[in-house]
Amino acid sequence: MMKSIRSKVVLAAAFAVAGAMCFAQSGEAVYKAHCQSCHGATGVPNPGIAKILGVKPASDPSIKSLSEAQMAAAVKNGKGKMKPVAGLSDAQVKEVVAYFRELGKK
Ligand code: HEC
Repeated sequence: MMKSIRSKVVLAAAFAVAGAMCFAQSGEAVYKAHCQSCHGATGVPNPGIAKILGVKPASDPSIKSLSEAQMAAAVKNGKGKMKPVAGLSDAQVKEVVAYFRELGKK
């Protein structure tokens, strides 16, 4: 009896870890495919792009002060010279915003 409970707990923990890894990876994959060209691999745009388009680094205080919802709105509806990023599900928008926020912390 105890043994079967323990194995269920271990299983649940394994799923939780796999889920968390999946989450991180897909945000990163979406970022690389849809955002990196303008925002740079590490959230810092290359100087040319920063100058032409006015992209700020993810760590800029004005970007860090944005809420998740505001960032998601920028991705879905566009903002200034950033066009709406098409073809993402709501879940992918959420994940990529989470990834972008992580980049801003580094
Ligand atoms: C075509 C280039 C381009 C792509 C691709 C792009 N962005 Fe942007 N992004 C911009 C520019 C330019 C701005 C600055 C917009 C402004 O404030 O005028 C910006 C601003 C932002 C902001 C700040 C919005 C605000 O309210 O100030 C966030 C967050 C953001 N981008 C996230 C993303 C994410 C996440 C992706 C990928 C899903 C992405 N961007 C793809 C060019 C791009």
